[in-house]
Amino acid sequence: MCGIVGLIGKGFETKQVLNLLKKLEYRGYDSAGIAYIKDKEIVIKKSVGSIDKLIPKVKPIKINAAISHTRWATHGIPNTINAHPHTDCKNKIALVHNGIIENFEEIKETLKNKGHEFKSETDSEVIAHLIEENYKGDLKEAVLKSVNLLKGSFALAILSSEEPERIIGVRKGSPLVFGLSDDFNILASDITPILKYTKQVYFMDDKEVVILSKNDFEVLDFEGNAIKREPQKISWNEESAEKQGFKHFMLKEIYEEPETIKNALAGRISNNEVYLKEIKDLNLGDIDKIKVIACGTSYNAGLVFKYFLEKHLNIDIDVEFASEFRYKKISPSEKSLVIAISQSGETADTLESIRMLKDKGIKVIAVSNVVGSTISRESDVTIYINAGPEIGVAATKTYVNQLIVLYLLALEILRKKNAFDKGVKEVLKSLIELPEIIKKIIERSNIKPLAKKYKKYHHFMYIGRGINYPSALEGALKLKEISYINANAYPAGELKHGAIALLNRKFPIFAIAPKDKFYSKMKSNIEECKARNAKIVAITSEGNKELEKICDDVIYVPKANEDIYPIIISPIIQLFAYYISSTRGYNPDKPRNLAKSVTVE
Ligand code: G6P
Repeated sequence: MCGIVGLIGKGFETKQVLNLLKKLEYRGYDSAGIAYIKDKEIVIKKSVGSIDKLIPKVKPIKINAAISHTRWATHGIPNTINAHPHTDCKNKIALVHNGIIENFEEIKETLKNKGHEFKSETDSEVIAHLIEENYKGDLKEAVLKSVNLLKGSFALAILSSEEPERIIGVRKGSPLVFGLSDDFNILASDITPILKYTKQVYFMDDKEVVILSKNDFEVLDFEGNAIKREPQKISWNEESAEKQGFKHFMLKEIYEEPETIKNALAGRISNNEVYLKEIKDLNLGDIDKIKVIACGTSYNAGLVFKYFLEKHLNIDIDVEFASEFRYKKISPSEKSLVIAISQSGETADTLESIRMLKDKGIKVIAVSNVVGSTISRESDVTIYINAGPEIGVAATKTYVNQLIVLYLLALEILRKKNAFDKGVKEVLKSLIELPEIIKKIIERSNIKPLAKKYKKYHHFMYIGRGINYPSALEGALKLKEISYINANAYPAGELKHGAIALLNRKFPIFAIAPKDKFYSKMKSNIEECKARNAKIVAITSEGNKELEKICDDVIYVPKANEDIYPIIISPIIQLFAYYISSTRGYNPDKPRNLAKSVTVE
C-alpha cells in the first residue's frame, strides 16, 4: 500500500504537490519522491523517511505536471534508489506504482537482454522500461500495450517529457481516483487529497486507463475503448476520507482484509504450487524440528501454523513466547527450522531471541510486514506478509496475512517432505478462493447488535478445539486489548479441569465451533457450559442450525476446508472486539497501555 498523487494544470507549486501527498502518508511512509517537468526534462527528487524529509530537497518552483509517491516497501528495502518515481533508461518516462507486479522478474530478464539497465530492486521499475520499450511516439499506446503484459495488481501514475501536457493513470486491482478543479486536475490513490479542491470524484474501475490533461480527461479500457465516466459526489470530510468513511482505522483495516490477502498470495502460487522465492535455497526436506518464536498476536499465528503442520506431518513444532525463549539455553539442532514472526519487525523480545540464536550460528527465517525492519535485517531471510501499513494498534489484517504466509510456508514444507497429498492440495485451492469468501463474511456480518448485547459483561471465555484453539486465544486477546474485558481462552476439552468453576449467568462463553472433525465434541462442551447457565455466543458453519437450540446467539460463516477456519473466523472475532470496544465508548485504534511496536523488554 503506497500513496500516489499526480497533478496536471495551468501552473502550481511543487510544494502544493507534496502537501497533497502528505494526506496519503498513512498509506506508507518509509520513503517518498516526486517527478516533474522543467525545461522539457524530467526532474526527480527522492528521500528516505517521511515527506517532510523530501520537502527541503525540492525547489519551490511553478510547474505544470508532476507525479509523486509515498512508499510502503514490498520489493527492496526503503532507500532512495528503491523510492519512487522510477524512470526508463533515457529518463523520459517516470512512474509511480502502488501494488505488486507478479511477473516482474520475467519481464526484467527479457528487457535486460534487450539492453535495458535497471537501478533498483523494485518490481515497479520494470514498468517504466517496458513502456520505454513499447514507445513508438504515442505514450497512450505504449502504456496500453505494456499494462496488458503485467500480472498482479497495480495503480500507476505516469509522466513523460515527450508528452508533458498529460499524465496517465492506470488501475488494476489497486485503487485510483481523479478529480477536476480550476487550477489543476488530480490523480490519486484515494480521495483524501482531492477533497480539498472538489467533492466530485471520478472512481476508476479495474483495468482502466485515464489520460488527464489540464482541461480534459479520457477514460479507456485496457483494449483502448473509450468509457463514459460520471463523477460521484462525496460527502466525507478530509479526516473521514483518510479512514475511507470508517469510524476507526481498525474497522477500515478489517475491511481491507480481502485485498491484503490477495497481496499476500500475489506471485506466490502458480500451477497449483507454492512459490516462495525467499526460501528457495533452504533445504526444507531435511528439517526434523521447527521452533517458532513470537509475541502477542504473532504468537497465536505461530500456533495456527503448528496445528496445521502437525496435522499433516509427523514433525515436532514448538511455539514459544519470545520473552521467555530469549533467556533459555536452548540451541536448536542443525536440522531445525527457526521461524520468528513479528508484524512490526521491531519487537525487542523477538529481536533478542534472534540475536541469541544468531550468536550460536543458527539460521532464522523471519515473517514480517515491514521491509527493512531490524528483525528482517538481522534474520537470514524474511518472508513479507504484504499487508500494507496497519495504524490500529491491535493487529487485524496483519494477523490474517501472517496466517496466509504461514500456510504457504507449511505447504512448501509439506511438498519438500513429499507429504503434499490430496487433502493438502485442497487447502491450497481454498487459500486462492479466500479473498472473495472473506469479503462476503465481512459484508454480511451483523456483529454490531451482538456487541451491544454483550458489552455489559466483565468477563468472557473463548473456547475452541484443535486448530481453532489459537483462534480462541486470538479472540480473547483482541477483546482484552481494546475492550478491557477480562477474557480467557481455553481448549474446550480443558474447561472441565478447572475453568468451568468460573461459569455462571454473568460469565459468557464465545465458542468457536465450525463443522470440523471436533464439532460433536465442541457441541458437548457447549452443553456443559449451558448447564452452568452461561450465556453462549457461537460461531459455526452455515447450514448447521442445531446450535441455535443451545446457544443464545449464533454467528454463521461459510462452510470451508476445515484447515483454514482460523482465517475464516478472524474477521468475526476482530469485529466482535471492535464493536464491543466502540460501543463501550473506547477508541479501538489507541488502546490504553499498548503500543504498536514494543521496542522495550
Ligand atoms: C504488541 C502489540 C500486539 C502485537 C505484539 C507483537 O504487544 O500490542 O498487538 O501482537 O506486540 O508484535 P509484533 O510486531 O512482533 O508482531
